[in-house]
Amino acid sequence: METVAKTHEVPNFGKKIVSVAGREILLVNVKGTIFAVENECPHQGSPMAAAIVRDGYISCPRHGYRFSLVDGRCAEHPECVLATFPVRLSGDDIQVDCSGDVK
Ligand code: FES
Repeated sequence: METVAKTHEVPNFGKKIVSVAGREILLVNVKGTIFAVENECPHQGSPMAAAIVRDGYISCPRHGYRFSLVDGRCAEHPECVLATFPVRLSGDDIQVDCSGDVK
């Protein structure tokens, strides 16, 4: 687990891009729960920072594929899975484990 940001940097319903081990990770805060996903859509590589987050899903701004924030799966396009990463809060620290892709 690596500390990547402070909790106040990712406000409720907010997002923040961080760089971890050479890859861009998008942190998303949904009602106090922080999720970490790859900031690159598995469909055609669009950045996910401008994505819409709703009901536990993140929708790519380019073609609208919806991915679960929990496991990155896309029900409509199961061949596309957004990489997700374990998150732990330690005090004010947001920690992410990017040691292995969790899909
Ligand atoms: S690039 Fe994300 S849905 Fe096509």
